[in-house]
Amino acid sequence: MMNVDLKKMVAEKAVDDYIEKDMNVGLGTGSTVYYAIKKIGELVAGGYRLTCVATSVQSEELAKKCGVAVVDLNEIDSIDVTIDGADEVDNNMNLIKGLGGALLREKIVAAASMKEVIVVDESKRVSVLGTKTSLPVEVIKFGHLKTKYALELQGCRATLRMGDGGPFETDSGNYIYDCRFNSIDNPFFLESRIDVIPGVVENGLFLNTATTVLIASGTGKIERLGE
Ligand code: A5P
Repeated sequence: MMNVDLKKMVAEKAVDDYIEKDMNVGLGTGSTVYYAIKKIGELVAGGYRLTCVATSVQSEELAKKCGVAVVDLNEIDSIDVTIDGADEVDNNMNLIKGLGGALLREKIVAAASMKEVIVVDESKRVSVLGTKTSLPVEVIKFGHLKTKYALELQGCRATLRMGDGGPFETDSGNYIYDCRFNSIDNPFFLESRIDVIPGVVENGLFLNTATTVLIASGTGKIERLGE
């Protein structure tokens, strides 16, 4: 099966299995969640009353196009289920996220969610985090070269993410450094080191955050980690 078919299959499975009437739902970001948002649009059209929160401007715009109303996170007490993608998943359901640039809102929404359902295809699976992708770290613009230097002291090569005609800007107006570690052997320790660097807003390690990971394989099967 093509990668795009796997994304659609796993995203729709998450909606079928976890979204119920009258829920508060978190909408993740990325090309896999795209299919989940479209499917949620079909549920809403069919009469489901869902209250949705978006993790990015991109997902908010897609949701609106699909007829799904989006509210501010401050307007609700908590989120029943969030469906989101990931860039790497290890066997303990720890994740790297943020290649789509939405890690800050994604982490805030995940923290407010009772269930965090992650949808990926098998290409995202790793035994050690950091072996396939860089770790995205969102930093404020002020003095960002100093922040970069402090990040590199943790053992990575940090590259400022570029967008059209200049540095990429997040929805919150910050920059992202993509930090190439090659292998992150102790993600909990690394996260604690990164979080104390002045100028760091958030990092893309999502540790003990996912409650479920659905992984679509090329044979058309979906493996479930967690609940
Ligand atoms: C967005 O910031 C990311 O965390 C995405 O969840 C991640 O990049 C997955 O996107 P794809 O489903 O497009 O691979």
